[in-house]
Amino acid sequence: MELDPKSLEPATRYKLLIGSVVPRPIAFVSSLSPQGIVNLAPFSYFNAVGHSPLALMFSISKKPDKTDKDTLRNVRPATEGGLGEYVINLTVESYIQQVAEASEPLPFDESELDYLDLTPAPSQVVRPPRIAESPVAFECRTLQIVPVGEFNIVIGQVVHLFIQDELVDDRDRVNTDKLAAVGRMAGHDYCYTRDCFTIPNGFPPDKKQPSKQRK
Ligand SMILES: Cc1cc2nc3c(=O)[nH]c(=O)nc-3n(C[C@H](O)[C@H](O)[C@H](O)COP(=O)(O)O)c2cc1C
Repeated sequence: MELDPKSLEPATRYKLLIGSVVPRPIAFVSSLSPQGIVNLAPFSYFNAVGHSPLALMFSISKKPDKTDKDTLRNVRPATEGGLGEYVINLTVESYIQQVAEASEPLPFDESELDYLDLTPAPSQVVRPPRIAESPVAFECRTLQIVPVGEFNIVIGQVVHLFIQDELVDDRDRVNTDKLAAVGRMAGHDYCYTRDCFTIPNGFPPDKKQPSKQRK
């Protein structure tokens, strides 16, 4: 089928998108309200921006009533009523159940931490805590928030990185088997990331000559 996104219902666009762009890593974002309430929420519109500087992005929709989600309020810069800081905890198999539960919408003055069996641990540079159950945590400062229709892309610079020692070898390579990150598929489905294969970049030596001659 050939589809014009403008002619589709938002729910159809959503289902086609999240069923096709798979798997998506899951940012488990810990943020802090100006009143000091810890907020936790998962975001799978999440990816790396680049490594110079080390930067990450995730994208937040509006609440059904079109107001900002709590995470967006908290990560906005101080000039816009937020703290401008947050932690992206990487989602792994050992605590995926709590991550899914943390998507429960709670009032702004309530913390998901009060409902979940998760352990806040002090961050090194930013005020919101990281989550001790996560083997990798990126402490971020908000660089830019880019509105895209009903979404806001939050771009953050990583100002400190926590990673469990046993995950990294002496050549700085992360053991992704041990990391056991979880990916989000469509609906309520998730996937493991431990079934990998290797392909070298570029042409293999026997393909260095063009096989098709241009006219
Ligand atoms: C695995 C998973 C991934 C999600 N990804 C996103 C996302 O990328 N963007 C978004 O706006 N909401 C996403 N959600 C929904 C939010 O987590 C949910 O709206 C949450 O209540 C927001 O919390 P907050 O208001 O405390 O920020 C996701 C939910 C789950 C379970």
